[in-house]
Parts: sequence; C-alpha cells; structure tokens
Amino acid sequence: MKLLIALALVTFAVGALSQCTCPNSKWAVCDGTPCQCTLLVGSNNKQTVDCTKLLPKCFLMKAQMQRARTGKDTRTIGGKPVETAFVDNDGVYDPDCEAGGQFKARQCNNTEECWCVNSAGVRRTDKGDKTIKCDEVVETYWLRMQMVHKPLTKDVTKEEIKTGMENAMLARYKLAKSFVKDVDYDPEGRMIVVDVKKEIGDRTEDLTRVGWYMEKDIKELPQFNDQNKFEPMVAGQKLEMEKVVVYYVDEKGPEFTMRHLTGGIIAVIVVVIVAVIAGLLALFFMRRREKQRYSKAQGREMDNM
Ligand SMILES: *[C@@H]1O[C@H](CO)[C@@H](O)[C@H](O)[C@H]1NC(C)=O
Repeated sequence: MKLLIALALVTFAVGALSQCTCPNSKWAVCDGTPCQCTLLVGSNNKQTVDCTKLLPKCFLMKAQMQRARTGKDTRTIGGKPVETAFVDNDGVYDPDCEAGGQFKARQCNNTEECWCVNSAGVRRTDKGDKTIKCDEVVETYWLRMQMVHKPLTKDVTKEEIKTGMENAMLARYKLAKSFVKDVDYDPEGRMIVVDVKKEIGDRTEDLTRVGWYMEKDIKELPQFNDQNKFEPMVAGQKLEMEKVVVYYVDEKGPEFTMRHLTGGIIAVIVVVIVAVIAGLLALFFMRRREKQRYSKAQGREMDNM
C-alpha cells in the first residue's frame, strides 16, 4: 500500500513536469490531461489539432495569417540560439568604464539603482540598490545578429551570403573570418542570422565592439567617419540591411530571478508541491492507524492474560 502511494506520487510528479507540448507545431498551444492541443486560426477561433502527425497545411496557413494579423512572429529561422541568450532591453545608459575601456561589472547610470553587466555592458541581473555585488564581468563569447535585408533583384543562396558577410566584416570591422561561425538564411522573410562566436576563455578578441558597430551601421548611422554604408557584396549585388536584433550569449548565463518564470511553470510547481504534501499526509495517517490497531490488539492480549 505504501509502495503504491509512493509510486503514484512519483508518476504524478513526472507527469506534471513533462510538459504537454505539440512536437509537430511550435504555434500550437497545449493543455490538460490527456494533452490537448489547439491552433489559433482566427481571433477567438481555436482549432483542435492532432499533434501525433504533421498538421494540415490549411490550418497552418490560417494560423500564420492570424499571427501576421496580430503582429506575431512567423519566422522559421533565428531566435534565441540557446536558452541562456538574452537581448538588451535597456538600451544606452551612461556607463562606468575601466581605464582600458572595459565595462565595470557594476553599473548605476548615475543613479541609486545598480545592476551587473556582461562584457558587452548589457544587464545580466535584476536591478538592485547600490549594495548589489558584482564579482566579475562575465564575458560575452557569442553574438547572434539577426537582420532583414532589403529586397533584391536576383535571388541569392545562403553560401553566397556567408561569403559576402565574412568579406564585409573583415574589411569593415577587421573581424577574422574564422569568427563568423554560422549563417542562416530565410529568403521569404529576407532574414539573415549571423553567429559571431569565439572560444570560451578567449580574451584576445572583443566581439562586443563588432556588435556595437554593426548595430549602429544597420539601425542608425555608421560610427565610422567616412559614413560609407554597410553593404556586403553578395553575388554581385549590394545587400542593404534594414533591421537587426542582437542576442548575447555569455560564458555564464544571466541571473534574472523568478519574476521571469511564466505562470505555467509556477502552476506546475505548485501542483507538484501540493501532491507531495498530500502523499506525505496520507502516509502519516496510515502509519498512525496501523499503530493504533497494533496497540488495541496488544491490549486484548493483556486482558486474556
Ligand atoms: C539612464 O539614465 C538616463 C537619464 O538619466 C535615462 O534616460 C535612461 O533610461 C537610464 N538608463 C537605464 C538603463 O536605466
């Protein structure tokens, strides 16, 4: 009996933790036991789908149109390269620098509110007061730059973009081609994803400079004096960029607190805790009843004597 309860508890905990998801569509939303998934195909129109198979194209097309209407992402490439990657939501502030030009680990923007940054100067902790401790500047070793190029007259391939990008970054930012690790391309979305990455522990190359220059080149105006545009030559055409998002990956992940846990995860944790407590209570009462029965039996034996 005790074993049974323990077993049921474990299965329950595992079941609650193993998320209910749709392997065949990242847009589907799943819930409940048994796991049921739906696709939002119109405003207030949820289509139940069978996630054990590829989803019908018609549903997916409807879902994509709905996402486009509500300004949601329909990209097929890009996004966070790893779970610990993050973007800069704060923007430019007035930083404290070391004599050599590196960011100090703790930044306060001339206020009473302080936080810790990575080597790119991007906040990697919650904001705190002046007493916040930042032991080290955690190195950014990987930048994922996700950009959109302006329409082209002739189609280009991923390989041509990679070559063009490597050449342009070497010429413009003096970045050795070996640091351009990976390039991905989605022609329909005109999206290019460039991974600029160095070895963990490498302190000779400072990728965060490349990131800053490239962001300025694409979002604002070139940081360079000559004001030439950043236009990689790709298969004989100039590739102009119009948008860029930078993801930062550090040697140590960021330390944002529980506030960022989604409601779903919190709900799962609560359910598991409640189940464990209920199980322990059941065990406790069962044991007590057994003891009572035992002592009663003993009492009768005494009477007989
Ligand atoms: C830094 O301070 C400036 C003005 O004092 C403000 O506009 C900016 O939002 C602050 N940045 C951060 C990240 O707190």
